[in-house]
Amino acid sequence: MSDRVETLRYDGETLSLIDQRILPARFETVTCSSAVETADAIRSMVVRGAPAIGCAAAFGVVLDAHRAAGQLRAVFDAELEQAFSVLAASRPTAVNLFWALARMRRIWERLGDASSTMVAQALEAEARAIYDEDIAANRSMGSHGAALLQDGARVLTHCNAGALATAGHGTALGVIRSAVESGKSISVIADETRPFLQGARLTAWEMVQEQIPVTLISDNMAGHMMSRGAVDAVIVGADRIAANGDVANKIGTYMVAVLAARHDIPFYVAAPLSTIDPDTETGAAIPIEERKPDEVLGFGEIIWAPEGVRVANPAFDVTPAELVTAIITEQGIIARPDRAKVAAHLAAAQQSHVSRGNG
Ligand code: MRU
Repeated sequence: MSDRVETLRYDGETLSLIDQRILPARFETVTCSSAVETADAIRSMVVRGAPAIGCAAAFGVVLDAHRAAGQLRAVFDAELEQAFSVLAASRPTAVNLFWALARMRRIWERLGDASSTMVAQALEAEARAIYDEDIAANRSMGSHGAALLQDGARVLTHCNAGALATAGHGTALGVIRSAVESGKSISVIADETRPFLQGARLTAWEMVQEQIPVTLISDNMAGHMMSRGAVDAVIVGADRIAANGDVANKIGTYMVAVLAARHDIPFYVAAPLSTIDPDTETGAAIPIEERKPDEVLGFGEIIWAPEGVRVANPAFDVTPAELVTAIITEQGIIARPDRAKVAAHLAAAQQSHVSRGNG
């Protein structure tokens, strides 16, 4: 299923996105024809999950590039600059968004003298490469990570780091899928993930579709489950990993990591190299998105809190590196991450990239 769920699909003219605000009640897509529409879709969570946001932003640039192609470079360049800035302002925490935009910008800048049509074509090729590489990275992360899970493991996850959060296969759920594909019997415990319910709506949906055994719990049940010996490992995704190994992920992840440490349960983070941000020194410097109060006041049309109450809605939190048993990337495993190990891992990845001729 994970390779058939097309979280995003670019058809050469428009970008179709599975509408993740309404799953699993309804399966519908939203079509974007411009960078502005794509940025709106990212902001409103039609598409969400760090790698999926990066892919969507790259195609958002392509949509405007094709629309402006054929014009003089100065006009084209001005429109493209506008596209980059609207996309960069869509969500602040997931670094994959900025990483994908930086890759797209490098292509644009490299083609200083080319026609606008040629630049648009090159940008489309780069967006397609970002998309394809994300699936390949998830597959590779899956095989590195699957080796860490015992046959029979009961694995708790928070939020949705599945096919829906990526171009396909998923990061945390990708590890679980790869373990299942390798013949291991794995069962999943999905935190519902208040307030947006990515666990209850999206992770549970992905697992049910694939008949991977899944038990849904509300977020405040995780400690109890761990204290009763019902959890063998935790795997989550990440939105940004700082240079020292601190991990920003969906709000509530930190709580799960503290509980896992208390109960001596391994806490794994599966994330592509594009989620590691060497320019952010520690987790304290990671910008944490504050979302609208209505997400906490209720869900959809239903409001359960009194009018006038003050609300806080930070969408992410930071898990200190010391609580992380290992980070799993497409390059391999960073056990007990710290600044030196993260730097060495990135250097090794860069080296293997260059030796594959992609320098
Ligand atoms: O607010 P969201 O749904 O975009 O947050 C998503 C998460 O926190 C995921 O765990 C993270 O992006 C990793 S997705 C592979």
